[in-house]
Amino acid sequence: MYVCLCNGVSDKKVRQAVRQFQPRSFQQLRKFVPVGNQCGKCVKACREIMQEEWEQM
Ligand code: FES
Repeated sequence: MYVCLCNGVSDKKVRQAVRQFQPRSFQQLRKFVPVGNQCGKCVKACREIMQEEWEQM
């Protein structure tokens, strides 16, 4: 499922980036995947995905 439509980024890609690079904030996540840099509608969903992944690590 696409989480960021502006950049065509899937939730799977965000999850992979969180696991691989272990960003500690949304700002850090953006260094690894292009999300939240246009309309910003995906920011909330990305934060939720990060939270879910952290809870599983
Ligand atoms: Fe991610 Fe627009 S949906 S910036």
